[in-house]
Amino acid sequence: MNPDFYYKGELLFAEGVSLTEIASKTGTPVYVYSKQHFVNQFQSIQSAFGDQPHLVCFALKANNNPEVLKLFAEMGSGADVVSAGELAMALASGIPSDKIVFAGVGKRNDEIAFALEKNILAFNVESQQELEVINEIALQMEKKAPVNIRVNPDIDPQSHPYISTGMAKNKFGIAIQKSNAVFEKAAALPGINLLGVHSHIGSQILSIDPFVESARSLRRLVLDLQKKGISLRVIDIGGGLGVDYNQVIDEPSYESLEAMVPPTPNELMNAVMPELNDLGCKIIFEPGRFLTANGGILLTKVLYRKETSLKKFAVVDSGMNDLIRPSLYNAYHRIVPVQKNPERKIVALDIVGPICESGDFFAKDRPLPEVRRDDLLAILSAGAYGYTLSSNYNGRPRLPEILVDGTSFSVARERETIDELAGK
Ligand code: LLP
Repeated sequence: MNPDFYYKGELLFAEGVSLTEIASKTGTPVYVYSKQHFVNQFQSIQSAFGDQPHLVCFALKANNNPEVLKLFAEMGSGADVVSAGELAMALASGIPSDKIVFAGVGKRNDEIAFALEKNILAFNVESQQELEVINEIALQMEKKAPVNIRVNPDIDPQSHPYISTGMAKNKFGIAIQKSNAVFEKAAALPGINLLGVHSHIGSQILSIDPFVESARSLRRLVLDLQKKGISLRVIDIGGGLGVDYNQVIDEPSYESLEAMVPPTPNELMNAVMPELNDLGCKIIFEPGRFLTANGGILLTKVLYRKETSLKKFAVVDSGMNDLIRPSLYNAYHRIVPVQKNPERKIVALDIVGPICESGDFFAKDRPLPEVRRDDLLAILSAGAYGYTLSSNYNGRPRLPEILVDGTSFSVARERETIDELAGK
């Protein structure tokens, strides 16, 4: 259960602020974040590591709001970035370059040069050819590129196929059983400073087993390489820790929803670290979703009610361009009214947006208390892969992001304007 979004009487609050108040001051649709949630999540990971040498690198792709990044920077977080753009955002927020790792199967030459210029902690290298290119660019710049080799351990994370990354059929990393030669090559190349190994097997992982399996295969690899005289100093275990999208608020769901029960950071580290903690390596962990997903909601207003012979629709003012997870992954997001109206009857609603696509929906046949024009709804668990996956599709400006801190709130990113869209 998430204590940062809750009802006080009939009204939904984020920490000490009523969401009705935010909607009336900033308009809708709008993303609203709880600072306290981000702090608690970050600290729970830090404390799960205990005295194990480690670095938490927040995966910017989950949430790149400048104020949120500043908060993580202040708490000592590093960053996992996948482009020069994300690297620039991480640096601008105050995350030091020597805490930044750069992953991705398709780094461009200019991105590699930019990262070398900024002296990042490590490139997480995804292919032999990429390794050779980084070597060449580093030599041209008279530098040595710090590198972790990303291996693919062929483990099924039991998650959505689009967000599974560590299986043999995926494009990511180098097959672990064939990776020895690449490590040897990396150790020998003059422009490369081989630091360690990286593996990220997927996202929204709800069981400990795939993490432990992955850690075991990393352990075998590190020991194998030691025998060949290559001693690694870094093991980057990727991100992927899942969150509960179901039991996320203390409120009846009107449908049968089982709690998702992901491992806690303590449970995860207690299971994974015994495989790694005697190898003399610094551990890097790259959580994204765990840190921010349940710290954010998308606040939207009902524009119209509409019924067909088959369906009851509530058309809201937010759409798939603002939050694409339901359309893209058929992802489930809880939706709750901002103002409870206990007398309203429960009906099966399709909550849909204004976009000209039938795939533009947030929920289908969802049992919810009846809604009316101008009602506010909160789409929960929208703090990760919400804003960052949003677009201007259908000529819609990107939403503002509000950061709530106790009883006050501030605009952490302004709403884009239609003038900006029109290039004025
Ligand atoms: N590290 C690497 C190399 C990654 O590719 C990812 C996510 C992460 C860390 C962070 O994973 P997390 O802790 O957030 O699971 N858009 C999808 C999720 C895509 C995840 C991509 N990689 C969604 O909305 O579910």
